[in-house]
Amino acid sequence: MGRTKSFSTRPKLYMSRAYLVTQPFPDVFNLFNVIEKRLHRVKRRLVGQGINDKAMRDFEPLMLAHIHTFVKGLAKSSEEQSIVDMTDRCRYLGFDIIGQLGFGTALDLQTSTKNRFMLAGMDTSNFRSNLYMQFPLLKKMGMELLLYPFILTSQMAYYKKLRDLIVARRAEGKHARKDLYSFVVDAKDPETGEGMRLRDIWSEAAFFMPAGGDTTSTALTGVYFYLSRYPQSYNRLAHEIRTTFTSGSEIRNGTKLSSCIYFRACIDEAMRITPPIATTLWRQLPESDNQQPLIIDGQVIPPGTEVGVNIYSIHHNENYFPDSYNFKPERWLDESPERKKLMHDAFTPFSIGSRGCGGKAMAYQEVTIAIAKTLWYLDFQRPMRNEKADRWGETIQNGGKPELAAMDQFGSVHAGPNLLFTLRDATSHELLEIDSQF
Ligand code: HEM
Repeated sequence: MGRTKSFSTRPKLYMSRAYLVTQPFPDVFNLFNVIEKRLHRVKRRLVGQGINDKAMRDFEPLMLAHIHTFVKGLAKSSEEQSIVDMTDRCRYLGFDIIGQLGFGTALDLQTSTKNRFMLAGMDTSNFRSNLYMQFPLLKKMGMELLLYPFILTSQMAYYKKLRDLIVARRAEGKHARKDLYSFVVDAKDPETGEGMRLRDIWSEAAFFMPAGGDTTSTALTGVYFYLSRYPQSYNRLAHEIRTTFTSGSEIRNGTKLSSCIYFRACIDEAMRITPPIATTLWRQLPESDNQQPLIIDGQVIPPGTEVGVNIYSIHHNENYFPDSYNFKPERWLDESPERKKLMHDAFTPFSIGSRGCGGKAMAYQEVTIAIAKTLWYLDFQRPMRNEKADRWGETIQNGGKPELAAMDQFGSVHAGPNLLFTLRDATSHELLEIDSQF
C-alpha cells in the first residue's frame, strides 16, 4: 500500500493489538508493545534517556572496545586466511554491544562460545512472537502446547540467562556501570514527574536484545554483502574513509565521520535493499475511537481493521526507487531534489512518526564505526575460487542482481556473506596499539 495524498488525511492510528502477544506479564509493557498513547509518550521520554546523544557519548568507549575486538577477529582471520561468515560475526558484535548497554555486562559472544546459546533462544522467542503477531488466533487455539518442548529447551535457557544478568546487575550499585539501568533508574518524566518501575526497566533491556542487536547486525551484514558485490562502490568508499582519517584511533563518532557522505549513502542503500525489519508494521483505528474515518486511496477502512505498509515492498517500489534491485549508493547523492525527497519519504527502515525507532542514532554510530575501522585496517573480498562458499547467503533477483537472502521473522534471518580479509600494509601496525588504548 503506497503513501498517497488521501493517506495524508488519516486520523491517528494505534499500534495493532497484535503487539500485545509479546507482553511478558499482563501489567508489564515495553516500548515495543505499549499501545496506549499517553503511556507510550512517557515511556519513550524515559527510555530515551538511555539511548539519547548524551548516553551514547558516555557509552561510546564501551562500544569502541567491542568494535576493536571485532576488527582484531577479522585481522586474525586474515593471518589464517580463513573464510569468515559475516552474519555470525556481525551478530556476535551486535549482541556484545547491546548486552553491554542493556545489562552492563560483556556477554563475550565474539571471544567465547559460552553464551552463544542466547542467540538460538532469542531466535525461538522472535519466531514465536512473530507467528502470534501475524496469526493471533494461533495463540488462542493453544498452539503454545505444540511449541512447548521446543520453547522449553532454547527459549527458557535464554530467559533464565536474562534473569541471571538482571540479578547480577541489581546486586551492584545503580551507577556502577554505564548501562540502561544507570541511565534511566533515576530519570523522571519532566511533564508528569513519573519514573520507571524496575520491572519495566528490565523489560526494556530484554526488548533491546532483538531491537538493537538483531537489527544493527543485519544492517552491518548488508553493507559487507553489497560492498563485496559492487567493487566500484567498495573502492569509492575505501578511498573516502582512508582520505578522511589520519589514524584508526581517530575513527569515532563526530564531524569527520558524518562528513563521509558516500558512506551514509552506502549504508542507506544496503538497508533499502535488505531492511533489517522487512515486515509489515500493523496499525489500526480502535473500534471504540470516535475520530474521523480512516480513508486510504478513497476506501473507507472500518475501525479495527489492521493496515500497514510492508517495508521491503516500499523499498522495492519502482516509482520511488527505479532499478530497485541494483545497489546504487549514488542515487542518494546525485538525483534531483524532488526525487531525493520522494526517496527519503519512502525510505522507512526505522519506521516513521512517534513509533519510529528510538535507537536510530546508536545504530548508525555502531555500523559506521565498525565498517570504517574495518576498511581502515583491512581489505576484503569474496572467496571467488570456492563457488559454494562464495554464494552462501545470496539470492539472485531481477536482472541478475545479487541480494542478501533474508527471511522475514519481524527481524530478518539470513546467513553469509562469506568473506576473505587481508591486513593493509599501511595501517596494520596501528592494530598493535589498540590494546594499550583499552
Ligand atoms: C539498523 C538498526 C535498526 C533498525 C533498522 C531499527 C528499526 C526499527 C523499527 C522499524 C521500529 C518500529 C517497530 C514497530 O513499529 O513495530 C523500531 C522501534 C524501536 N527501536 Fe529500532 N531499529 C534499529 C536499531 C535499534 C537500536 C540500536 C535500538 C537501541 C536499543 C533500537 C531501539 C528501538 C526502540 C526502543 C523502538 C520502539 C520505539 C517506540 O515504539 O517508541 N533500535 N526500530
